[in-house]
Amino acid sequence: MEALKGVRILDMTHVQAGPTCSQLLAWLGADVIKFEPPQGDATRGQLRDIPNADSLYFTMLNCNKRSMTVNMKNADGKVVFVELLKKCDIIMENFGPGVLDRFGFTWEKIHEINPRIIMGSIKGFGSSGPYAEFKAYENVAQAMGGAMSTTGLPDGPPFVTGAQIGDSGTGLHLAIGLLAALQQRNRTGEGQYVEVAMMDSVMNLCRVKWRDHQRLAHGALSEYSVHTEKGMAYTPRAGNDSGGGQLGNAIHCKPLGPNDYIYVVVQEAVWDGLAQRIGPDLGIADLVNDQRFAKIADRRKNQSEMWALITRFAANHTKREFMTILNDLDVPCGPIMSTEDLANDEHVRGRNMYVELDHPQRGKWHNIGMPIKLSASPAVIERSPTLGEHTDQVLQEVLGWSESQIAAKKQAGAFTAPAKSR
Ligand SMILES: CC(C)(COP(=O)(O)OP(=O)(O)OC[C@H]1O[C@@H](n2cnc3c(N)ncnc32)[C@H](O)[C@@H]1OP(=O)(O)O)[C@@H](O)C(=O)NCCC(=O)NCCS
Repeated sequence: MEALKGVRILDMTHVQAGPTCSQLLAWLGADVIKFEPPQGDATRGQLRDIPNADSLYFTMLNCNKRSMTVNMKNADGKVVFVELLKKCDIIMENFGPGVLDRFGFTWEKIHEINPRIIMGSIKGFGSSGPYAEFKAYENVAQAMGGAMSTTGLPDGPPFVTGAQIGDSGTGLHLAIGLLAALQQRNRTGEGQYVEVAMMDSVMNLCRVKWRDHQRLAHGALSEYSVHTEKGMAYTPRAGNDSGGGQLGNAIHCKPLGPNDYIYVVVQEAVWDGLAQRIGPDLGIADLVNDQRFAKIADRRKNQSEMWALITRFAANHTKREFMTILNDLDVPCGPIMSTEDLANDEHVRGRNMYVELDHPQRGKWHNIGMPIKLSASPAVIERSPTLGEHTDQVLQEVLGWSESQIAAKKQAGAFTAPAKSR
């Protein structure tokens, strides 16, 4: 964890989009101080599986961070914030629009306090434009960034994807921006403001749908399995189509359970081998010479018949058996893996992508590992902090405060919420 050693981050992020980014930066070696309101990041208590223990929602997004609580609605809490700003390289937040400004800390003010600091900010729609004032969650971003309108089947409703492209996808974009700004800061001495909007990030991840949107001006999309035509105004939903130049589909396999599917890409180069292998089993000895499927253009035109043949073959094989057959033929394919499949997968375990951790409140649990593998600074994954676990440690180590200074700020309510009046 040497890559970002020495980089200190004041992490005001909450929920998923921001914490994804700061967890990644922590795994790259940054010292991430999770700066929480006295009641903590709301996700600590959301979707709890164990009473009184931090939820998996929280623990899975906040590993390798230190936690301190500071009340930003208290004058002494703001003093702590300002002192930390002076000692950090990056501050990051994903509050609703205007929250930090209401605390009295615009980017201009933060930059004035520490000209070297970089500020990372996630908003649903950025700080400009007609949508700037709106809050956003994952599926709002998927809806407004083009993902939902292009996911599902044309005659069914739009669907969200299971991958959290609006939250985690945005967090990844922010990490790239922050690292670039850090590089520039190290050259110039000057920090800058890095803004990533969830809607923009989803649009970026849907790039190929915009390729197709513009191709429609010139003609139908021959690789699509659903109807398209020249002049169609929008990219339609296209089920499990491959989305690329090669044909692809999810094929149901034996024993026809909900995840007994394999995704098969019938690359141009592999058709002959595939036809020779499956043809005899289907009772079609010369499938390889069938003119309906001879060239890629023919297969595009007759793809539903081609998929029906492959599905008939798959009915006699499990997804793993079919995978072996296809691998032998060099056909790109992948069984649809359930979370159970993945949790028990040798490859996944071997690559440290499902990591067992211990936690004082919840005992053993698993986190998804670090997908970016640096040869000289591999990530060592450590549990998420309990609320305020490191408040005193940060004040002592980072700010150099004495016990009496800390006690005075505690007395003034800097780290706690005032008791609610009845
Ligand atoms: C996610 C989101 C919708 C949640 O909305 P929310 O629960 O109303 O939270 P907000 O961020 O708007 O506000 C946070 C509140 O906590 C308060 N707060 C935050 N940190 C605090 C601290 N250290 N001390 C005291 N108060 C604090 C803020 O003052 C604010 O309260 P206010 O409205 O009275 O000013 C919103 O934060 C948002 O749109 N974020 C940007 C987009 C985003 O990242 N969404 C994805 C989340 S995965």
